[in-house]
Amino acid sequence: MLAHVDPFHAITISRLAHELQAQGRSVIHMEFGQPSTGAPRAAIARAHQVLDSDPMGYWESPALKARLARHYLETYGVKVEPEQFVLMCGASPALTLALSSTFSAGDRIALARPGYVAYRNTLRALHLTPVEISCGPESRFQLTAAALGALDPAPQGVIVASPANPTGTIIVASELEAIARVCRERNITIISDEIYHGLSYVAPARSMLEFEPKARVVNSFSKYFSMVGWRLGWLLVPPEHQARARAFMGNLFLTAPSLSQHAALVALDCREELEGHVATYARNRELLLEALPRLGLTHIAPPDGAFYIYANVGHLTNNSLDLCLSLLRDTGVATATGIDFDPVEGHRYMRLSFAVSTAEVKDAIARMQSWFARRA
Ligand SMILES: Cc1ncc(COP(=O)(O)O)c(C=O)c1O
Repeated sequence: MLAHVDPFHAITISRLAHELQAQGRSVIHMEFGQPSTGAPRAAIARAHQVLDSDPMGYWESPALKARLARHYLETYGVKVEPEQFVLMCGASPALTLALSSTFSAGDRIALARPGYVAYRNTLRALHLTPVEISCGPESRFQLTAAALGALDPAPQGVIVASPANPTGTIIVASELEAIARVCRERNITIISDEIYHGLSYVAPARSMLEFEPKARVVNSFSKYFSMVGWRLGWLLVPPEHQARARAFMGNLFLTAPSLSQHAALVALDCREELEGHVATYARNRELLLEALPRLGLTHIAPPDGAFYIYANVGHLTNNSLDLCLSLLRDTGVATATGIDFDPVEGHRYMRLSFAVSTAEVKDAIARMQSWFARRA
């Protein structure tokens, strides 16, 4: 019964990056998608306060769930009840909860390739069958309603991610609507990973809930809210799935961290500080989009959102893990190999995360310039 789960190669790269740093080398960390900014100041202040006064028992904050419900109404115009939220230790367990409480072993779940490494591996760990749909530049590396409609037999579920990791591409509203329609017709349950919402550089990303109220939505405080290590996220389920999701939650995870729930309630109202981070990412994105063609990296996915650039390096290598490791050893710039996201084509891609400071992005570009010129 033991499932096959692949390692995450970005961890290998990161380990080398930290070794080099320990030897005194200067390293720019663009290998993981994590903000370097930390939680909003007011959220941290709230946490300090709570530490001295709260016994930190098992707890699910009613105020946070009510505030999240308001967030959906204000952001997407969607009315949901606070009880539809299950607070989780991040999007990762929210995904596990969504999948395990919805599907049965052996069910087929469609997903885009390239896609977030954990989708494929979590599906396997739960004995679900990933049905990967190859999504290239022609579909902006994203799932389409047509591709879902063409699957024979229809899968039981689909994971939709917009903006996506590793590409940052967003699925436009009309296509989300078409995907929702195909899923209704074919009885496919949608799991929508909306963890990069709030981080878009074109039109804001739309929630799948606007088109399909039965979708299970996964989200987290890790990215826009810059609270990765606080380990807090949520699963939003339709009312008829609440009891089942809660039964699974109580047995598998009990509750999310109390301290983080207090801090997150405050973070939801720290818009100004958080929008400052988005402005930094927007500037970083511009700088990279301008510089990468000069480095010979001309084929990149349109980075509508998130904080990634997924670039084709197939003109230089057939082994992007080796390329990323050499780049790191020679220049101190740590990046991720495409094979984490796409076991078939990913050996010809690399991913750069620009969730770092603008000064670091400028430095990284300067370091990469001569390195790529020598390779060309
Ligand atoms: C698309 C996607 N979903 C989920 C996660 C997991 O995030 P969390 O820190 O909330 O567990 C990540 C992390 O990078 C991600 O990129």
